[in-house]
Amino acid sequence: EKHGYRHYMLKEIHEQPSVISHSIEHFLKDGKLNEEALGITKLDLDKIQDINIVACGTAFIAGLLGKYFIEPLTGLPVNVDLASEFRYRNPHMLDEGRTLVIAVSQSGETADTLASLKHAKEAGCQIFSVCNVEYSSIDRISDSTLLMNAGPEIGVASTKAFTSQILCLYLWANAFAKQIGKLSPEQENQMTQELHSLPVHIDLAMNSEDKVKTIINDYYESPNFLYIGRGPSYPIALEGALKLKEISYIHAEGYASGELKHGPIALVDRHMPIVAIAPQDEYHDKSISNIEEVRAREGMVIGIGHDKDDKLQAVCNDVIPCPQVNNPAFQAILSSIPIQFLAYHIAVKRGTDVDQPRNLAKSVTVE
Ligand code: F6R
Repeated sequence: EKHGYRHYMLKEIHEQPSVISHSIEHFLKDGKLNEEALGITKLDLDKIQDINIVACGTAFIAGLLGKYFIEPLTGLPVNVDLASEFRYRNPHMLDEGRTLVIAVSQSGETADTLASLKHAKEAGCQIFSVCNVEYSSIDRISDSTLLMNAGPEIGVASTKAFTSQILCLYLWANAFAKQIGKLSPEQENQMTQELHSLPVHIDLAMNSEDKVKTIINDYYESPNFLYIGRGPSYPIALEGALKLKEISYIHAEGYASGELKHGPIALVDRHMPIVAIAPQDEYHDKSISNIEEVRAREGMVIGIGHDKDDKLQAVCNDVIPCPQVNNPAFQAILSSIPIQFLAYHIAVKRGTDVDQPRNLAKSVTVE
C-alpha cells in the first residue's frame, strides 16, 4: 500500500527516518554494536587479509562508499567490483578464506552478484552478504549474512535500501574493527552517540523536498545533467546521476570533482545543470573551487549542502539544504535524501512512470 503517497518511490523516500530508527534498535544491543545482527560472529576475522566487494547498480555504489569507511577502520585493502566484471575477469583471490568477498544486494537474487559469489566460494573465499531478503539465493550461499531489515522495497529505483546499505556496511566495519582491536570503547561510544542523533537529522533532511519543488522548473527540461562530489560525496554523485537517468530518462553522469578538468568540463556551458554535493567536510574548500570552475564556464550549479554555508550559497545558482553532521558515513546518508527528491520530482514533472521505469526490472535475475 502507498499510504496516501502518489508513488511507492516517494513513500520509500519518506520511510527512511523510520528505517534508520529501526536499524539502530536492531544493530545495537545495550548501547553497543550487536555483532550477531551485524553478521560478524560467523566470520573468521583473523584470517582476512583483503576484501573484495561485488554488486550491481545502486548496491555497487553503496559498496564504493563502503570502501571509504572499511579501509580506514579495518586497515585492510578493499577492492570494489561490478559483479558483471568480477565474475569474468579472473580476479586475484587469496585461498584458505584469506580473501573476504562481500556481496551487497537488496533482492538477494541478482544473477551477476550470485554468480560472483559462486566463483568466490569455489576459490575458497569467505562470503559475507548485506542483503534485504532472508532465504534469498545470496543469503543462502553466504557464510554470513547481515539482513538489512529495511522492509520491502517496491519502487524500481532503490532509495531506502541504498541508505540502509550504507549504514549496514558502516556499522559492520565498526564491529569488525572492534573485534580486531582497532576500535576503542571510547570510539565506539562516540560513534553510537552520533548514530542516535541520525534519525532526527534524516527527518530534517526531508525538508529539502520543499526546496526541490520550488527550483526544478528551471532545470527539468535539460537533456543532460552532471553530478559532482569529493570523498564520500563522490559515490553520492554517482547515485544521483543513476537515479535521475533511470526514472526521468535524462542523460546524467556522476564524476569525482577532481576529474572534471580531465574531460567532462568540456561539456559545461550555460545549458548544463551541475549538481554539486558539497557538505562542510574536509573536502569543502576544494569542492567550492570546483564549483567556481564550472560557474566560470556558465554552468548552472545546484549545490547540496548546509543552508547556512555562505561560501556555497555564494557560488551556486540554487542550494538544496541538507543537515550537516561530523560523521562522514552519516553525512553520506543525509546527502542521499536531496538527490532522491531531485530525481523524483523532475521525473514526475516530466510525466514518466516513476515506479516502473521503461526497460527496467526490480530484480535482475538474468545477466
Ligand atoms: C537502481 C537499482 C538497481 C539495483 C541493482 C542491484 O535504483 O535499484 O541498480 O541496485 O539492480 O539490485 P540488488 O541490490 O537487488 O542486487
